Amino acid sequence: MPSAAEEPERPDLPADEVAGYVVAEAVWAPSVHNTQPWCFTADTEQIRLYADLGRRLTVADPDGREMTMSCGAALFTARLALRALGYVPEARVLPDPADPSVVAELSWSRQAAVTEYERRLFSQVRRRRTHRGAFGPAPVSPALVAALREGAARDGATFRIITDDGQRTALASLIDTAESALRRNSEYVQEVVRWTSPPGSPRRDGVPATAYPARAERTDPDFPGRDFAHGCGWGLPPLSTAPSFRTSGLVGLLTTPDNRAADWVNAGQALQRILLTASTCGVAVAMHSQPLELDQPRELIRSRMSGGNYPQLVLRLGTVIQVATSVRRSPADVLRSPGTGSGPKALTGNSK
Ligand SMILES: Cc1cc2nc3c(=O)[nH]c(=O)nc-3n(C[C@H](O)[C@H](O)[C@H](O)COP(=O)(O)O)c2cc1C
Repeated sequence: MPSAAEEPERPDLPADEVAGYVVAEAVWAPSVHNTQPWCFTADTEQIRLYADLGRRLTVADPDGREMTMSCGAALFTARLALRALGYVPEARVLPDPADPSVVAELSWSRQAAVTEYERRLFSQVRRRRTHRGAFGPAPVSPALVAALREGAARDGATFRIITDDGQRTALASLIDTAESALRRNSEYVQEVVRWTSPPGSPRRDGVPATAYPARAERTDPDFPGRDFAHGCGWGLPPLSTAPSFRTSGLVGLLTTPDNRAADWVNAGQALQRILLTASTCGVAVAMHSQPLELDQPRELIRSRMSGGNYPQLVLRLGTVIQVATSVRRSPADVLRSPGTGSGPKALTGNSK
């Protein structure tokens, strides 16, 4: 729990500064490869969130599923920022027949006191970091697991814990197979290269070399991460060389009942709620989307491990000392004048 002194300020903002404040928080949402595939237009009591289609991963994410989930995470963060200011957000999620690139419209006029839960979640928006690697031995408490499952349900998703050892091993093996297949696909590798940067880069998007370990930490079963360093030796050095007990953590699947664009927005909102809730308890989260970017492993996960739902992301949770940092573009880079949305391509979803 952060101390009171560490809590973010809740400035009593003039009405015409609220939207700018909200966008400045929303950009701290997680996004696939840190593409930050969003832009916003704003006026005094409304923000429109658009998918920035030029930032979609055309090889890994042709349908825009991960892009839309990332926008969902930004939407949740924007809603939370409004709550931190004491406003009651009203969100209308896509589709918008008039402009298919709109992900959501957010408005606010009523006020209500912020709750302790919302305040604690909001305090983690800029602090939380994606973990990549193994976890320490401390288990995730059953109370936190219950809160995460309940939270996901509030956003229209399901957080399904994989408790069976055989299923964990099978899931790890699907991630391993998917990661190997993706590394053999030169177009996919080039796309990862485009969204990573060398140490010391001034870039404000993509995955920086300060965000992942230089040497992958193996666990049993092993859940391999993305190859962001692509053989360049980039990444963070280990904190200690002393042998220690390291685990793959609590493994879960974030799923939705359907697989339309609106489900992807919900999955993104649920994801950010999970990440922030875990963070309030000192629990970090690793994400794996590799097997969901390929037809066969995605279908296997859907039919055998998702309880009839559609898998949207594999998560691992645990405790660990985190030193990773990340980067974001400035709010000015993503806040556009009204009427300049990001393009006409529709986000329709599919039933894969
Ligand atoms: C839909 C989605 C998929 C993601 N997939 C992965 C993944 O497969 N591997 C990974 O290491 N991180 C994954 N991430 C985490 C992002 O890389 C991370 O959010 C981004 O780099 C920003 O860093 P931060 O979360 O530490 O702020 C994913 C995030 C989202 C929203």
